Amino acid sequence: MQALYRVALLPGDGIGPEVIAEAVKVLKVFEQLNGPMFRFQTGLIGGAALDATAEPLPAETIAICNNAQAILLGAVGGPQWDTKRPELRPEQGLLQIRQRLGLYVNLRPARVLDSLVNLSALKPELVRGTDLVIVRELSGGIYFGNPRGIFSKNGERTGINTEIYREHEVERVAHRAFQLARLRRKKVTSVDKANVLETSRLWREVVTRIGKSYPDVELEHLYVDNCAMQLIDRPTRFDVVLTNNMFGDILSDEAAMLTGSIGLLPSASLGEHQALYEPVHGSAPDIAGRNRANPIAAIASAALMLRYTFRSETAAQAIETAIERVLKRGVRTAEIPGRKRPVSTSRMGDLIAEQTRKEYQALSAPPSRGRAKGRRR
Ligand code: IPM
Ligand code: MG
Repeated sequence: MQALYRVALLPGDGIGPEVIAEAVKVLKVFEQLNGPMFRFQTGLIGGAALDATAEPLPAETIAICNNAQAILLGAVGGPQWDTKRPELRPEQGLLQIRQRLGLYVNLRPARVLDSLVNLSALKPELVRGTDLVIVRELSGGIYFGNPRGIFSKNGERTGINTEIYREHEVERVAHRAFQLARLRRKKVTSVDKANVLETSRLWREVVTRIGKSYPDVELEHLYVDNCAMQLIDRPTRFDVVLTNNMFGDILSDEAAMLTGSIGLLPSASLGEHQALYEPVHGSAPDIAGRNRANPIAAIASAALMLRYTFRSETAAQAIETAIERVLKRGVRTAEIPGRKRPVSTSRMGDLIAEQTRKEYQALSAPPSRGRAKGRRR
């Protein structure tokens, strides 16, 4: 029997709906090949939700997410909502969903493909072979700590945010990082600012203690400023980079740019019971609705969903290999420089869907027929 999976689709704003449509196109390939089948339910989030319901994350969307086994999200935000009060900005939809669903760990892989090594602004010999994952704590830290606000005292206004980490919050994300490292090159770099901040001193202590239960994994600690420098200087030295919410936000954008195009990178936000998959890129309002966006990050996010939530490694690999093959053929969307006639969003989706079909058939064929196996990662 074909497995049937329930997926919530939250396309959101800007290019979100366009790229999610291509991810769905690719996922539908498996249905026809006796692979996993999907039942999709679509919900509103971000600016689209604000326009329709005056809330960035309506209760109905939460209900749709609770009813699903995984969530695929496009992007939120756009200039038309920038003037709103902070609690009515589209970004609140994203922050609230992370908290409401307990998504405490965010995985952001950044891998430089050999075929795209020239895209990076850095020298090819420097970035070649880069293959790292940022493990970002996602539901705590200065993003959510209280007190927070802008207060007036003696005629002057003061802005306050609070960085708080409890031990259990550090423990659970650290476990995730070490477990992930075990499946990779067995190295964790924990990033903090322990020379200045108490939250970071606690972070370092807890990570060191958790690390003792993973003696096969190498653990090092770096200050965040040093890490920012080394990511540019020698990115290949990193495997798993474990860090807090704020530092992870910044370092993951930096790591994304090692690859040269933020349009390629997927992410996974995981909790104990729910998981959300989304491209690292934003809503790109300047190109929205023009069939120009790169759908690869959204499609690669669907691959992460197959791997982490549905444990369908073959299907995940089929998509990832398909993306690599299509890029290797020189197919490019408009934001990737160096190509005179870029393809549209939907054309890129068609090509990857078609290639995914071939890869999946090859991977699911009986080994006795001597088919080549895809690369594992
Ligand atoms: C990200 C984004 C969000 C964050 C914003 C949109 C709230 O930058 O996912 O990295 O800061 O976490
Ligand atoms: Mg960010």
